[in-house]
Amino acid sequence: GAPVEVDISGIKPGEKLTVEWRGKPVWIVRRTPEQVEALKKNDGQLADPTSERKAFPLPEYVSKETRSIKPEYLVVVGICSHLGCSPSEKFTAGPQPSLPDDWNGGFLCPCHGSTFDMAGRVFKNKPAPDNLEVPPHMYLSDAKLLIG
Ligand code: FES
Repeated sequence: GAPVEVDISGIKPGEKLTVEWRGKPVWIVRRTPEQVEALKKNDGQLADPTSERKAFPLPEYVSKETRSIKPEYLVVVGICSHLGCSPSEKFTAGPQPSLPDDWNGGFLCPCHGSTFDMAGRVFKNKPAPDNLEVPPHMYLSDAKLLIG
């Protein structure tokens, strides 16, 4: 499939844009500084905090801490690594139905309850075995992202 060029200039902090790449939904999430800061608090609760598993190897130009090139923008394939449902956003931190009280924001898969943090990292003891895939991508400018 051809690479997809995306204008990201309209995404507000805390918002997500979904585009299609190779028939898959790719999310571009503009994280707030608070959401980036909160990622560190999740490490002990995650199945693979530094993305060492090889199902979806992290591109080497991506930071292991934020799973992104720029801390502000998360770019991930929005497909659960369990049976392929699309998780929904539960961005907001704090108590929410079916989520732990110390929830720092992220994504919840509606099919079997796997939870992912704001870097797309899966929490321990969930059916999904792996973190969300970070697709190959690069910035053409501040406003233009190329996926693929
Ligand atoms: Fe997401 Fe099963 S498909 S938890």
